[in-house]
Amino acid sequence: MKTIPKNDESSRPIGVFDSGIGGLTVVKELSRLLPNEKIIYFGDTARVPYGNKSKETIIHYSLQIAYFLLKKKIKMLVVACNSASSVSLPTLKRHFHIPIIGVIEPGAKSAIASSSKNKIGVIGTLGTVSSLAYKKALKKINRNVKVFQQACPLFVPLAEDGWNKTKIAQDISDEYLKGLANKGIDGLILGCTHYPLLKNVIQKSVGKNVGLIDSGVETAKEVKRILEKKNLLNRHKQTGRNHSVFFVSDFPHKFKEVSQRFLSKELTHVHKVKL
Ligand code: DGL
Repeated sequence: MKTIPKNDESSRPIGVFDSGIGGLTVVKELSRLLPNEKIIYFGDTARVPYGNKSKETIIHYSLQIAYFLLKKKIKMLVVACNSASSVSLPTLKRHFHIPIIGVIEPGAKSAIASSSKNKIGVIGTLGTVSSLAYKKALKKINRNVKVFQQACPLFVPLAEDGWNKTKIAQDISDEYLKGLANKGIDGLILGCTHYPLLKNVIQKSVGKNVGLIDSGVETAKEVKRILEKKNLLNRHKQTGRNHSVFFVSDFPHKFKEVSQRFLSKELTHVHKVKL
């Protein structure tokens, strides 16, 4: 029988961070695809939202969080927040020498692969949309692709407050997306951690012929590919219940209820920390 050395790097956790609890949609996909991996999550609940903050502030916060997670001996870092992925990745990659990925490139790759019309829509926070990160990533893969963007800031509170399946959500979605629906797109990137919760209303607004690309799902696939390639998939079977650990910078009102909505199960092992 092959023995595995105790300090085997593959058994280290994957670090994931987000501006708050939205990144739990990415954790959900990671746990589904890689049930053997331990995750250490940091949600910056004291400073959320990032979507309306400046580039400099988001980079500063991202560095603080990455230092915190690196101290926990993570083998890989996943920036689950679209707003942070849009602006922080180059700085993070310069500072830390472990595999680091965000949600933008995986989402862009998948959108290009599934579009036949080469017309793709992108929705996200104001920060993500104005950074043009998705547009640049899409154009890098195919410079002929036409990209149409729309910021949908009200989607975040709608998802957090559980209004995601209401008529009001549908009306807001129709209003935001009527411009995109007329552009002849055949793919729409859900460029924000919260938007998978609004999939149904978004699909109704743009019509069934537009494929919705969930960046979280695509990121989980990319994490798997990278860990496989680097021979870092956990060789130790996870036993017992949940081995993932969650850190937050605050416990806001209704934290338990809201996080459950994003993860589809109860959040255990949550600790409040000061960075
Ligand atoms: N997590 C953020 C994102 O994916 C949404 C919430 C925020 O604005 O911080 O862009």
